[in-house]
Amino acid sequence: AARHRERLYALCKDAARFYYQTLWQPEHRAAQQYFIGRGLHRRVMNQFGLGYAPDSFHALIDAMTAKGYTREELMDAGLVSRSEKGRIYDRFRNRVMFPIIDVRGNVIAFGGRVMDDSKPKYLNSPETLIFHKSRNLFALNLAKTTKNGYFILAEGYMDVIALHQAGFDSAVASLGTSLTEEQARIIARHTDQIVISYDADGAGQAAAQRAIDILKKCDLQVKVLKIPGAKDPDEFIKAKGADAFRAIIDRSENHNAYRLEQIAAKYDLEDDEARVLFLRDAARMLAGIESSIEREVYAGRAAKMAGVTAEAMNIEVRRELGIRR
Ligand code: UTP
Ligand code: MN
Ligand code: MN
Ligand code: MN
Ligand code: MN
Repeated sequence: AARHRERLYALCKDAARFYYQTLWQPEHRAAQQYFIGRGLHRRVMNQFGLGYAPDSFHALIDAMTAKGYTREELMDAGLVSRSEKGRIYDRFRNRVMFPIIDVRGNVIAFGGRVMDDSKPKYLNSPETLIFHKSRNLFALNLAKTTKNGYFILAEGYMDVIALHQAGFDSAVASLGTSLTEEQARIIARHTDQIVISYDADGAGQAAAQRAIDILKKCDLQVKVLKIPGAKDPDEFIKAKGADAFRAIIDRSENHNAYRLEQIAAKYDLEDDEARVLFLRDAARMLAGIESSIEREVYAGRAAKMAGVTAEAMNIEVRRELGIRR
């Protein structure tokens, strides 16, 4: 079994090399241009080992079997799919390729993106003997040596790569899935502070709320970034630059303040009735804060937001706590 694993590591590394070499063949300028068009420099493309899977059902199979890998090994590495008739074919076709590398530096899987608007936008390797999505973070192999005091948690491949190119070498992504407890524990081994930098859309903000809970369980100090005027970190950096991103990191809010704002956004705080509802809603959130000092601080903030006294807010929070206990 150990030998089989080693074979799969070797195969994935050779596949990454194949995709890399294919990208830089002159006939695949369109794929090169795709990355360049998205603002990536050659240096960072090489650092991440980016590649291209050609538009063929057997190019990878041919190249890897020529190197002595078996069809079964290709199947077990998740690099091929099997048709109903039992024939295998390249899983990744006509996609730009992002190798997923584990913390020890082994290529273990791939993400492949279409170069147009077709679906699915990204295709990822399936779970395999060497790839467990929930136990890996994209770019952790690079981020683990950062001198930054904090990690940045983004959603996607391109976000992380754009962040690294802009000098934020502690950026990682949770590989599209919502963050898992295992991933949070891994992050906590490397840092005690994290800035969640998910997409600005509803899905991203909902995922951020879930990530906060999971990261807090690991005793991480959690902040949440707001990305004004852009969909995600990649687009923000491209539009406004690295310094502007650093500025929003410096202004990023503690997760409690972020949550209060998310709650406040649901109510018209000019309206008396709505304010009462906001205070109840906020009290429920505040009652969930473990530290009584933190609870007090953010109760004070919520009171200010709604224009009531801190005492009134504290009574409401205590009532909520009473209900819970
Ligand atoms: P997004 O849809 O936000 O894409 O998905 P993106 O990262 O901004 O991609 P670009 O900028 O259009 O290239 C975030 C992440 O979710 C996973 C990928 O890891 C992606 O980076 N995802 C998304 C998939 O696995 N499959 C999909 O079809 C879409
Ligand atoms: Mn620690
Ligand atoms: Mn998204
Ligand atoms: Mn994007
Ligand atoms: Mn995105």
